[in-house]
Amino acid sequence: MEIRPPKIRDIEKVRELELSCIKEYFAETIENRWEDLPKEWKDNLGASSRNHLKAYLDGGLSFVAEEDGEIIGFIFAQMLHHICDEDNLLWIENMGVHPYFRRNEIGYRLLRECVRAGREQGAAVAHSMIQEDNAPSILLHKKLGFFMDRRQVALLDLRDPKLRL
Ligand SMILES: CC(C)(COP(=O)(O)OP(=O)(O)OC[C@H]1O[C@@H](n2cnc3c(N)ncnc32)[C@H](O)[C@@H]1OP(=O)(O)O)[C@@H](O)C(=O)NCCC(=O)NCCS
Repeated sequence: MEIRPPKIRDIEKVRELELSCIKEYFAETIENRWEDLPKEWKDNLGASSRNHLKAYLDGGLSFVAEEDGEIIGFIFAQMLHHICDEDNLLWIENMGVHPYFRRNEIGYRLLRECVRAGREQGAAVAHSMIQEDNAPSILLHKKLGFFMDRRQVALLDLRDPKLRL
């Protein structure tokens, strides 16, 4: 198994894997059926979507795990500047491992590689967005030394036509 930066030729496979991980999450958390969600909305989901991928391919902070020519894991991250009191903050957007290959340290190795690369590029801290009920992901991050405090992110959809500002 090789951990390496993603290449253009990986796009289709990594997209498929990220979407399947997102579907897994949706299946547990919302009542809407995946098939019923609008296509444009689904196309825009995830770091590997057409609109977002470039930011993750170019920064040297994203990685894929490859086994026998198949993409079996990914981590997408980028550097954010002047945020949370830091000049350089490693922002981990999403990661996932194919269900068949889980519990083989692939997630751990992807996360470690990403954090190492972030530190080499000058990040002082790393932030990773984790759902509070995602025990495998929480435990994985803790294994590498991450901690979770009481911070939560408040969201506002600025495209919502009902929004009154
Ligand atoms: C979270 C995820 C990436 C972990 O990948 P993985 O390759 O299976 O993880 P690893 O084998 O490297 O596990 C490393 C550590 O994480 C923890 N861990 C991972 N999966 C776990 C599980 N199902 N139950 C309990 N602990 C788990 C353990 O502490 C483990 O260390 P250990 O094996 O010494 O006990 C994987 O479960 C996944 O893709 N989940 C769906 C997508 C997702 O939730 N992504 C995270 C978004 S923030």
